[in-house]
Amino acid sequence: MTIKTIGIIGAGTMGSGISQVMALAGFEVIMMDIKDEFIRRGMENIKNGLNKMLEKAKITAQQKEDTLARIRTTTRLEEMANADFIIEAASEKESLKLDIFRKLDSICKKDIILSTNTSSIPITRIGSATKRSDKVIGMHFMNPAPVMKLVEIIRGRDTSDETFAAVTSLTEKIGKTPVESKDRPGFIVNRILMPMINEAIFALMEGAASKEDIDTAIVLGTNQPIGPLALADLIGLDTVLSIMESIYKETKDPKQRPCPLLKRYVDAGWLGRKTGHGFYKYEI
Ligand SMILES: NC(=O)c1ccc[n+]([C@@H]2O[C@H](COP(=O)([O-])OP(=O)(O)OC[C@H]3O[C@@H](n4cnc5c(N)ncnc54)[C@H](O)[C@@H]3O)[C@@H](O)[C@H]2O)c1
Repeated sequence: MTIKTIGIIGAGTMGSGISQVMALAGFEVIMMDIKDEFIRRGMENIKNGLNKMLEKAKITAQQKEDTLARIRTTTRLEEMANADFIIEAASEKESLKLDIFRKLDSICKKDIILSTNTSSIPITRIGSATKRSDKVIGMHFMNPAPVMKLVEIIRGRDTSDETFAAVTSLTEKIGKTPVESKDRPGFIVNRILMPMINEAIFALMEGAASKEDIDTAIVLGTNQPIGPLALADLIGLDTVLSIMESIYKETKDPKQRPCPLLKRYVDAGWLGRKTGHGFYKYEI
């Protein structure tokens, strides 16, 4: 079916970034979150993102205005009845996502694809919350979504070839590069990335080095653009913790246990850039 309107659940770091990408690519977007203040914050992210693109002459002022005009916002999930394709990007909590998919399944048009941006929850499990598991798929954008080229595409057990082909084609249409991952804990990127971030936090907790030296060592020693602690702040420490917990729950491998220091930071509400305080401090 033709996709004109994309429904995006969650207006946080990823939901707002994906909304920006989709609206800029010409789709009508309905961005949903549970509170007006979260939507306001999401729209601020989008405006800031578009302003940066404007400053770098990557878009025109007209494109910025047109992109913003294509984004509608709502706090009502029922509005998703008007969407032709769904990208769920709500918080990384399994019970929350299962509940959202159960509701989406009854609200949305019967023939549309319900995709999830989950970093670590099995797609097969999310699909099982619906009566259309052949149309449920992982569409995993990287952060920041407007900048990062990769999208991991993950089939659940029942995901059909048609669904896979439609999501691959949509990914290419918005200028991203798709890779296919099996429905395994952490898919490809987080399976490899999260243990590195977790290990950096263990190194910090054990006093092996300062946070600055840990990040500098990885940036200059392995040629990565950003250190693992700074990257954790960018991802969101609550999201990092949820991903580690989910990988640990699936694998029961002790090497995947989340670092206690990460848990304490999340307990303290130090969630990284989005709260202005993580391993580093930020102005918000
Ligand atoms: N942060 C990253 O680097 C990153 C990268 C790729 C994928 N992801 C995944 O994207 C998803 C979102 O992560 P994020 O970093 O944007 O988190 P976030 O905390 O920035 O935003 C999550 C948003 O979901 C909203 N939300 C909670 N319950 C909701 C509901 N019932 N309906 C609608 N919205 C609801 C919250 O209010 C919040 O605004 C997660 O599944 C995460 O694993 C995150």
